[in-house]
Amino acid sequence: MTETFRMDKAQARLLDETGQGVIGTPMDRPDGPQKVSGRARYAADGTPEGTAHGVLVRATITKGKVAAIHADSISDLPGVIGVVSGPEFIRNPAQGMANAAPVQPGTRVDYHGQPIALVVGESFEAARDGALRLKVDFEAEAGADVDPDTASEVETGDPSAVGDWDSAFDGAAFKVDREFTTAAQVAAAMEPHAAIAEWQGDKLLLRSSLQMLRFNKNEIADSLGIPAENVQILAPFVGGGFGSKLGIGPDAVAAAQAARELGRPVRVVMPRQAVFDSILRRTETTQRVRFAADADGKLRAVGHDDRVSNLWEEGFAEPTSSCSQFLYGADALRFQQSLARNHRTPTGSVRAPGEAVGMLTFEAALDELAEQLDIDPVELRLKNLPDTHPMTGQAFSSRGLAECLRRGAEEFGWSARGKPGARREGDWFIGVGMASAGRPNMLIQASARVRLEAGGATVETDMTDIGTGTYAIFAQIAGEMLGLSADRVTVRLGDTDLPGASGSGGSFGASSSGSAVFLAARKIRAKLAEAMGCDADELTLQDGIARGGNREMAISDLVQSEIVEEAQIEAGKTAESHFSAGYGAHFVEVAVHAWTGEVRVRRMLGIMDIGRVLNEKTARSQAVGGMVWGLGAALTEEISHDPRTGHIVTRDLANYHVASHADVPAQMEVSFLDNRDDEANPMQSRGVGELGISGAGAAVFNAIHNACGVRLYDFPATPDKVI
Ligand code: MOS
Repeated sequence: MTETFRMDKAQARLLDETGQGVIGTPMDRPDGPQKVSGRARYAADGTPEGTAHGVLVRATITKGKVAAIHADSISDLPGVIGVVSGPEFIRNPAQGMANAAPVQPGTRVDYHGQPIALVVGESFEAARDGALRLKVDFEAEAGADVDPDTASEVETGDPSAVGDWDSAFDGAAFKVDREFTTAAQVAAAMEPHAAIAEWQGDKLLLRSSLQMLRFNKNEIADSLGIPAENVQILAPFVGGGFGSKLGIGPDAVAAAQAARELGRPVRVVMPRQAVFDSILRRTETTQRVRFAADADGKLRAVGHDDRVSNLWEEGFAEPTSSCSQFLYGADALRFQQSLARNHRTPTGSVRAPGEAVGMLTFEAALDELAEQLDIDPVELRLKNLPDTHPMTGQAFSSRGLAECLRRGAEEFGWSARGKPGARREGDWFIGVGMASAGRPNMLIQASARVRLEAGGATVETDMTDIGTGTYAIFAQIAGEMLGLSADRVTVRLGDTDLPGASGSGGSFGASSSGSAVFLAARKIRAKLAEAMGCDADELTLQDGIARGGNREMAISDLVQSEIVEEAQIEAGKTAESHFSAGYGAHFVEVAVHAWTGEVRVRRMLGIMDIGRVLNEKTARSQAVGGMVWGLGAALTEEISHDPRTGHIVTRDLANYHVASHADVPAQMEVSFLDNRDDEANPMQSRGVGELGISGAGAAVFNAIHNACGVRLYDFPATPDKVI
């Protein structure tokens, strides 16, 4: 019997009393050896007997129709089985949790690269050969909007504002009013999109690389017109997602359709180029950031307007100003978004949608204001922390931003900072920069089942581990709660036949689904207390021994055969009354080459407040990963589009440069405050993954200015712009 818990503050704190010392430790991932030895089974591994292989055919026009697909043009090719296409080829799935649906209707073409058919063959090579040779007649239409800067349709939302903005801004003595641009990006997960679909009667077994199985199950069912209970998805290992696998992809839908038509399993593995142009991208943005302040540095007005893009009919718009709305207080704040409709690859959530690009510009403009005011940028931020959420009036849950800023400045040696251009080593200008980090924290409905047996426990949920450490963290939560070392806990994930979890997205995975594990384990504790004849409060479980009410027993003796409990967490009243967010501060040192404009990041320090740390090692890895993405956003990451067709030109990881080892400084430090967020969830923890990226790139930009005195307004800062 599943019990549903609504979050309320009273449920918190138990993890500080269990005293097992398992939670929070930098435990290695139990799945690590499987991954590095190649035994971990990813979506395309373990092809079933009789599997056929599919390769997607993508549109070579930007706008128009697929008039005819000539399957007979490849029917004589050896190994080609057939072509799956037609108006029902790929239907839009329900959008659910996963915003931008990455698949489009079958005969209408909305962008260059859109999947239009699947060629199926006995081997991958045969299918690829068929896909290359398939004759397709397109009816191209004129008037494609390939450039959001000149889009014919721009939807502008109403501003959201508090205070009398115009008079607050106009009346202030110091002002910054800047327009920034940021480049389009892709998620660039290591594992490409892949699916193996297998039908058993009217039931679909799908292995696919996905982040959000509970939602993905409904999406694929909707696409295929079958009941969700006829679908089982398996995704025990996922090689990164970064947003691109929040929703089902064309690989999964096409594989399932082809497998149904052919009566045999079908495997579709998308090549890197197809992942680039036919899944989703992060929008390019144009942002206007405005600050107004008094001479003492008190903010009078904050404004952040942005223009983003997407295809027609897509619901997603990058929430660029998400952090700008709560980090700092002012007499008046104003935010407004425009959405340009265009014929480019659809846009969706990519690693920290919103603040990843919004904080680049917001924190860079604030640096310029600090310079104008001649106030230290750390001081300026500390001076303007609001008492309550400036837009909603909600109380903040625990907020360690001030401590992050102060500690970061101290540990980094910020006070040694000089004037722009003051420090030079040979041909290199040296500079330092800083920025705040923020990320709204969420609690998403999640269920989990925990089974305590003599000698160990098992955690079961359809939660995914996308490289984030779920296997380790859940073993720690259950171990901490049940008096077991983490290696006595088996964690089963990535199977929709198990209780439905939050999925991995929005940095809510570990906390939301982990809370369900926590609550199920807490119910087991209650059962054990009953068996001991003591109050649940009195019970301690440690190293396999239960103590309570002057009794002491081996837990294995208390468990007859097994105790199984399931629990579900939902957001509750604290989520309405309180605003929970992660915070941090980034400090960066760069060297800028005087003659080439090359920027090298020499040091990065991030101090993060993520509430309770569930696993110090995986949390650190998440934060470091985010900071590396931030470095890439500042210096190298950029999609180029063909100006004639809107097609993505940079379609592989050689042309699209994500920061690599050679770009990353040897000195990359992260530390966490020892904090608790009573309002976030029963474990008092917050999300971490997307926090690391937030503001990191702005700190790099601010350091470039401090190094050589140049202010840039166009991300990334490639050498041509710096010079
Ligand atoms: Mo994230 S961009 O919600 O996977």
